[in-house]
Amino acid sequence: MTDLVIIKDDGPVRMVRMNRPEKKNALTMAMYDAMAAAIESAGTNAALRCLLIAGAPTVFCAGNDIGDFMAAASQGGALGQPILRFLYALARCEKPLVAAVRGNAIGVGATLLLHCDHVVASSDARFSTPFVSLGLVPEAASSLLAPRLMGQARAFSLLVMGRPLNAEEAKAAGLVNTVVAPDAVEAEAMKAAQEIAALPPQAVAASRRLMRGSPDEIVARIDQEAEQFKTRLQSAEAQAAFMAFMTRKR
Ligand code: COA
Repeated sequence: MTDLVIIKDDGPVRMVRMNRPEKKNALTMAMYDAMAAAIESAGTNAALRCLLIAGAPTVFCAGNDIGDFMAAASQGGALGQPILRFLYALARCEKPLVAAVRGNAIGVGATLLLHCDHVVASSDARFSTPFVSLGLVPEAASSLLAPRLMGQARAFSLLVMGRPLNAEEAKAAGLVNTVVAPDAVEAEAMKAAQEIAALPPQAVAASRRLMRGSPDEIVARIDQEAEQFKTRLQSAEAQAAFMAFMTRKR
């Protein structure tokens, strides 16, 4: 158990909130496990019809904890089992996923959104995936889902060049549905989640399955990316980038 993720059921909607604001909601292994468990158990609970992923008022998520990346690199480079568990849970989730994004969504904080069905963002939200400048490769099946969603050129700019998207650009790219004022994000996301939850659940599930295609294809890409990630984590390029972040002047 960790108090760094808060799970709260509000009628048919399960809210999964990342709660490590002092570290910009950088995700630890315990946080991945807690989020995976919340998604998995929602899948088998008929009373729950929608999940809502949220962050803190000033930051959605700053991606994987870079200290954990360094530790993983020194132990062979494999992505931790909790990370894969969380990514598989997203890929195989049968309930609609809504996200409420305020502030930065970085790394997996951005790529997890590619698994969501409805995303509400604040006008100050910023989406970035600095994988390549960290010496890494895209993860969470983003190498498959981002080009599919926004086309090769925009996906390359985001995933490889590391150029961030602001809220309006993310909306134009199809990553975000609605952009609202920061204070209105969670209410707007909850409204959408309740709206989805009020629909006939079996028809929602069948429609969603048709639209999303095979989860096996997504899981296979997560595994392919993880294989590359393992090599990249141990690379001199990644080591230098992690050290630069850890020792940066502020
Ligand atoms: N991993 C580990 N710690 C992180 C982190 C991460 N991904 N992101 C932020 N933190 C920590 C900082 O080290 C700092 O810790 P400290 O107070 O103990 O020194 C704290 O969170 C606050 O971060 P700080 O950088 O001081 O805040 P900021 O407002 O100046 O910048 C960010 C916020 C998110 C833009 C910046 O922290 C950042 O770029 N983080 C890294 C994002 C990233 O590259 N993630 C990996 C993607 S694959």
